[in-house]
Amino acid sequence: MSKRNILITGGAGFIGSHVVRLFVNKYPTYTIVNLDKLTYAGNLENLRDIEKKPNYLFEKGDILDVEFLFDTFKKYEFDGVIHLAAESHVDRSLHNPNEFAATNIIGTLNLLRVAQTSWHENYQDKLFYHISTDEVYGSAEHGEFFTETTPIDPKSPYSASKASSDHFVSAFNNSYGLPTVISRCSNNYGPYHFPEKLIPLLINNILNNKPLPVYGKGENIRDWLYVEDHARAIDTIFHKGKRGEVYNIGGNNEWKNIDLIHFLCHLMDKKLGKDEGTCAKLITYVKDRAGHDLRYAIDPSKLIGETGWRPEVTFEVGIEKTIDWFLANQEWLRNVTSGAYLQYYSAMYQGR
Ligand code: NAD
Ligand code: DAU
Repeated sequence: MSKRNILITGGAGFIGSHVVRLFVNKYPTYTIVNLDKLTYAGNLENLRDIEKKPNYLFEKGDILDVEFLFDTFKKYEFDGVIHLAAESHVDRSLHNPNEFAATNIIGTLNLLRVAQTSWHENYQDKLFYHISTDEVYGSAEHGEFFTETTPIDPKSPYSASKASSDHFVSAFNNSYGLPTVISRCSNNYGPYHFPEKLIPLLINNILNNKPLPVYGKGENIRDWLYVEDHARAIDTIFHKGKRGEVYNIGGNNEWKNIDLIHFLCHLMDKKLGKDEGTCAKLITYVKDRAGHDLRYAIDPSKLIGETGWRPEVTFEVGIEKTIDWFLANQEWLRNVTSGAYLQYYSAMYQGR
């Protein structure tokens, strides 16, 4: 196995921590540098099990700080970048679009420029891998599936900022020959998921006997993938993806929100030894998210056909693993739901 120095941005977040863990454990000859600003969503507790490994290093820093990025590139002479750092929550983007534009667009542009300049256009064995989202395609019609050629049509400030960053990545590939790859994944779930997102929010609220907020009529559809399957797809694309290409990642696992919520309530009743129907009594319909995309649905056949990647964890297994993890890690939940998160939560759900 070759030696490589790889920069992973946003490695202290939900998906990033799974990607860091997979790379650190699977590739002992790689040096993995996790660069993260540790915003409210970044938590080094997510990496406690691998933080002492000799091939893992952490750099606290901001992708908006160009000087810091240049220094870090110089220090480690990276040959690969896997860029996950972002503001990632749609509801927050509705309240603070500028922050999303700054981190997701300008932050990505900074990294692209620093990689391009530091590599002096000597791109042999180099790769800039940008992690994007299915939300850049907008909302899917009934029966429609997003392919890599579906027009970009973002509808929220979050997805607009991710779409813009995707365009910059493609522009750097086209204009400067920077070796890039982009992947666009559907909704992830699993351990370390921050409890502002639907599934961990439901689990946390059930544990605290709080209402389960359903936006609108609960008819929106999401396509859920277990986070470790996403991390494996990222590993596959990093090593086998073709330069300049886009790959969609998804598990063909569509759920209407209200059906998913009832299924989760049913599982939580069982796990907590409560009578069937107890958790569902907490379901509360609230005001819809502004501009709420109705449906996301990924066609992952290009990735499967070119690389052989496939999801390994069915939803039935993945959701039980997720619930079990949260039940066993309630201290983690308590730690991340204190302080700033509580203020955000009461502002967000006020009047809903
Ligand atoms: P997350 O919010 O859990 O983590 C984001 C991480 O980025 C945090 O550790 C945070 O501290 C860090 N970060 C934020 N701003 C930064 C900055 N200016 N400089 C350095 N670090 C910064 O996000 P996530 O859900 O793990 O998503 C990771 C990536 O995957 C994002 O790019 C997101 O758009 C994409 N994505 C997420 C999903 C999903 O379901 N969560 C699905 C598809 C794609
Ligand atoms: O599709 C990929 C995207 O999935 C990622 O790019 C985003 O980073 C990630 O946050 C996620 O976006 P969503 O908006 O789909 O995820 P969220 O968990 O916020 O919401 C899932 C669905 O549940 C959505 O239709 C809104 C709804 N919802 C959400 C919350 C937080 C509720 O009904 N009630 C809630 O309290």
